Amino acid sequence: MMIALAGLVGFLLVLTADARVGNSSQSEFCTETEQCLLYDLICENNYEVRHYDSVKWVSTNVDHLFMDLAMMKAFRRLFNYIMGENEAGIKIQMTAPVVMRVPDKKMLFERSNYTVSFLLPAEHQTNPPSPTDDDVFINDTPDMKVYVLSYGGWMMSWTDQVKTKELIGMLDKHQAKYVQGFHYAAGYNSPMKLLNRHNEVWVLVEGDPVCK
Ligand SMILES: *[C@@H]1O[C@H](CO)[C@@H](O)[C@H](O)[C@H]1NC(C)=O
Ligand SMILES: *[C@@H]1O[C@H](CO)[C@@H](O)[C@H](O)[C@H]1NC(C)=O
Repeated sequence: MMIALAGLVGFLLVLTADARVGNSSQSEFCTETEQCLLYDLICENNYEVRHYDSVKWVSTNVDHLFMDLAMMKAFRRLFNYIMGENEAGIKIQMTAPVVMRVPDKKMLFERSNYTVSFLLPAEHQTNPPSPTDDDVFINDTPDMKVYVLSYGGWMMSWTDQVKTKELIGMLDKHQAKYVQGFHYAAGYNSPMKLLNRHNEVWVLVEGDPVCK
């Protein structure tokens, strides 16, 4: 009985540890990879409030004038990591979303430090192989609540800027508090997919989320 119970507890612990990077069949817009980042929906009106558990990513920073070019450069580095440029020399499956940390710009033509991250699949969440490229690193996002605005089509610098302004406008109208200085741009599709594309803007919640 005790042994069975201990086994069950162990099993449940493993389940919760992996639960937030899960099967994409549990996500309606995450359609191109086997595993996706899962979340709890707290509330929604014109935007959503989501809760994400702390998860591990493989990331790289790119200092660049243009977000779209920074994304291409970062994507190549991270793609090499999952194709085997890691100390175990193993291939790691692609997941979704791909997330970019986008700092606010004061001027249109200004270099920014963009951070792009691939979510590590469940089997590599605890002990991912170290990257061999010095520009690539493993990091965690904390347990967090985010305001989310979704949009279709292509994620580009200008669509991301328009949607970020739209989300911030709604948050200000609702007097919602949020973390200033940067947002995240999340993409769920490969360039090969032409229809039903899904992208998101994330802004971190500060204090209690507002959703009315
Ligand atoms: C994901 O779920 C689908 C349907 O529920 C199942 O067929 C598939 O094997 C699952 N994939 C993984 C990696 O668990
Ligand atoms: C770029 O931004 C990341 C995330 O905030 C930070 O950890 C890193 O130190 C920054 N790099 C440079 C060169 O400023």
